Amino acid sequence: MPIPFPNGLVDVDNRRMTDLGLEPTRSPLALLLLGTDADPDSERGVECPGDLPPVSDPGLVARARAAKDRLGDRVFILGHHYQRDEVIAFADVTGDSFKLAQQAAAHPEAEYIVFCGVHFMAESADILTSADQQVVLPDMAAGCSMADMAQIAQVEECWRVLEAAGVAERTVPITYMNSTAAIKAFTGRNGGAVCTSSNARRSLEWAFSQGEKILFLPDQHLGRNTAVLDLGLDLADCVVYNPNLPGGGLTVEQLQSARMILWRGHCSVHARFTAQAVAEVRERVPGVQVIVHPECTHEVVSCADAVGSTEAIIATIAAADPGTSWAVGTELNLVKRLAQDNPDKQIVFLDHAVCFCATMNRIDLPHLVWALESLADGTLVNQITVDPDTTHWARVALDRMLALPGAAARQD
Ligand code: 13P
Ligand code: SF4
Repeated sequence: MPIPFPNGLVDVDNRRMTDLGLEPTRSPLALLLLGTDADPDSERGVECPGDLPPVSDPGLVARARAAKDRLGDRVFILGHHYQRDEVIAFADVTGDSFKLAQQAAAHPEAEYIVFCGVHFMAESADILTSADQQVVLPDMAAGCSMADMAQIAQVEECWRVLEAAGVAERTVPITYMNSTAAIKAFTGRNGGAVCTSSNARRSLEWAFSQGEKILFLPDQHLGRNTAVLDLGLDLADCVVYNPNLPGGGLTVEQLQSARMILWRGHCSVHARFTAQAVAEVRERVPGVQVIVHPECTHEVVSCADAVGSTEAIIATIAAADPGTSWAVGTELNLVKRLAQDNPDKQIVFLDHAVCFCATMNRIDLPHLVWALESLADGTLVNQITVDPDTTHWARVALDRMLALPGAAARQD
C-alpha cells in the first residue's frame, strides 16, 4: 500500500520523486583524472605548483631534516598511519583521523600544520585550528575517492527527498570524518555530528538519542557494520541511498521504515577485501587471526575474528601474545609497518590483490621537502582553507563528536 506524501502526492515507484523536481545530481568528477585538473568541489585534482626535487635526489632526507630544523617550533607535522615510511619518519605525531584531528587542535603554538594525510583531514585541521595557523597539504592531489562519492549538492537533494517523505525531522545526519568540509557543515546545520572509525559506535548511540533515524554519510560499510555489529540493529533496518537514482532509488515506504539510511559510498581500498581472501588466509596460515577495518564490507567483517579502527588494529596487535599470527585487512603501508614493529608475531596482508591507497601515497618525500623548504624560505604553499560559514557549521559537527563521552575510546 503506497504511503501518501505530506503534500498529497503518492510515491509508488519513485517516479513521483522526479515529478517533484528531485532529479539526481550526478557527480562531475567521473572523468577528472587524478592530479591533472582542478575542480573546486573535488577532493582531488590539482597539480603541485612548484618545482619538485627529483625522487632520485640522494639528499632528500637531509634536505627534509634541514628544512624542518630551520622551521623549528613554527611547524608541526601530522602523519596518518597510511602514509609512506619516508614521510612518517618526519611526523611529530602519527595517528588515525580522530587522533590527528585532536592533535591539530592541541597545537596552537605551531604557525604551520603540515598535514601528511588526505584533503578532508587537512580541512578538518583548518577548521579546528586558530585563524593565525596555516594548514598545508604537501600534494593537493591527495584526496579521497570515498569523500568524492558524496557531493554537497547530492546530499542537499537527499535531504529534500527525506523531507518529501516526511522523515527529515526525525533523522539525524552523521558524517564520517572522510567527507568534505561542506558535508560536515551540512551535518552541523541539521543537528548532526561527525564520527570516525574510532568513535562510530558512540556517535550512532548519541544520534539515536536525538532522533529515530540516521542518515549516514558517505561510507555505507562503516555505517552498516556499526549499526548491526555494535548497536544490534538488523540488516533489514538499513537501506542504501543511491545519489544517482531518483529518490535515491528508495520508496517512501522504505525511507519511513528504515532506521539507518546509508549513503552509497565506499573506500576504494577497504571495500576490495573479500570473504574468499579470509578463507584463503585461514588455509595458508594455521591459527591465523583475521583483523579488519570497519570500512570493509559486512560480509568480510562478519567472517573476521576482530574489527577495529586503525588505532584499534595497532593496539590489538601490539598487545597480542608473541608467536601469534595475524592477517590484517587495512591499508598496505600500515600493515608493512605493523610487521616491522612486531617482529615477534607473524603479520600478513589479508589480500594481495589489494594495494596502497593511491591518494594517500601522493604525499612522498619530494612533496614534503618542497613544502617544508618553501615554508622555511617564507613562501606559503598548498594552504588548505575553509570559508568562515562552512567552518562554523563543520566545527559544530566536529565539536559534537569531540564532546562525546569516551569518544576517543577504541572499539574492537
Ligand atoms: P581512520 O583513520 O579513522 O582509521 O580511517 C581510515 C581511513 O580510511 C582514513 O582515510
Ligand atoms: Fe579514502 Fe579509503 Fe584512501 Fe582512506 S584509505 S583516504 S577512505 S580511499
